[in-house]
Amino acid sequence: MTLTRSDIKASAEELEQFQQGLQHLSVSALWANQGPVSRSPGGSIEPRPRAVPHVWHWLDLRPQALRAAELVGTQQAERRVLQLKNPAFSDRSVTTNTLFAGIQIVMPGEVARAHRHTMAALRFIIESEGGYTNVDGEPVPMLPGDLVLTPNWAWHDHANDTGAPMIWLDGLDAPLVRMLEAAFQEDFPQERQALSAARGLSQIRYGAGALRPAGEPPAVRHSPLMHYAWADTQDALDRLAEVDEGSPYDGLIMEYTNPVDGGSVMPTIACFAQRLRPGERTAAHRHTSSTIYHVVHGNGYSIVGGHSLNWQDKDTFCVPNWTSHQHVNLSETEPAYLFSFSDIPVLRALDLLREEPVPGEWG
Ligand SMILES: [Fe+2]
Ligand SMILES: [Fe+2]
Repeated sequence: MTLTRSDIKASAEELEQFQQGLQHLSVSALWANQGPVSRSPGGSIEPRPRAVPHVWHWLDLRPQALRAAELVGTQQAERRVLQLKNPAFSDRSVTTNTLFAGIQIVMPGEVARAHRHTMAALRFIIESEGGYTNVDGEPVPMLPGDLVLTPNWAWHDHANDTGAPMIWLDGLDAPLVRMLEAAFQEDFPQERQALSAARGLSQIRYGAGALRPAGEPPAVRHSPLMHYAWADTQDALDRLAEVDEGSPYDGLIMEYTNPVDGGSVMPTIACFAQRLRPGERTAAHRHTSSTIYHVVHGNGYSIVGGHSLNWQDKDTFCVPNWTSHQHVNLSETEPAYLFSFSDIPVLRALDLLREEPVPGEWG
């Protein structure tokens, strides 16, 4: 018997009638549907991200955050956050398909009440003279450039006991958790948690470089270290720059790790700090993970999916999944420092992480 693909051609009317007949059975014809994929001329399929590259400039965001603080109290807003919404989405509050970024402001004397949720969150501090986030009873310091974690289901409230506004970048996996319909949230019985642990306790226990307390590690899947101070991060990057070339795609890049297992800080989000040398231009690549970048210090631009995104201090920009990107430090004298967070642990865990070099604007 010869085996071959069959060739049956129905009329358009017959096919239409057939498909309509399926509808009341809650059935549809697979061959008639095209999902969110793009097909190459050879017939292979690859992701076609709906999110678009975008940059949010600090010079635009800061005045709006301060204005929000005049218009809405932390009584009225569960959290006073300006959502950085990807322009391609009107129906979802997302920055990339899986990640969310926002700008949160807490004014002198204010608290944002205690709650917890299954969405994991990070805070990257932009402007502050102190203040803290109380994570499960531990006051975690928040100074500019610091990374603070509030993992899945950790109680957290924010407090500003200084005389200046505190403004930070929020990073959450909320779009992913909502997509999975696994979002839970609840309020703490009181407005604030008691300060039951010493300030900086997790730093004392788990921030001592390669040392950690002996014995059983904590039975959690996120980092037990809640605070990564910027001074340590920049120092690590600067020291590495003296001995290492770094990656052609990222320059010098270091990952914030879980000190217990060396993995990402949280199961759904990985955090990175990178240093671009004066005048550095990275090569282009793309990967199935998406990334949100925050410019700690520097002046440059990134070419993302063919769009040039100009950035300077405190700007935030997004790189959607499977979108080419490369970075340029325009300063010939100063390094540029970028913080970023991505969904790479999720893609890796599901065996969906792919990366490839792509032709860029230069060599
Ligand atoms: Fe929260
Ligand atoms: Fe990348």
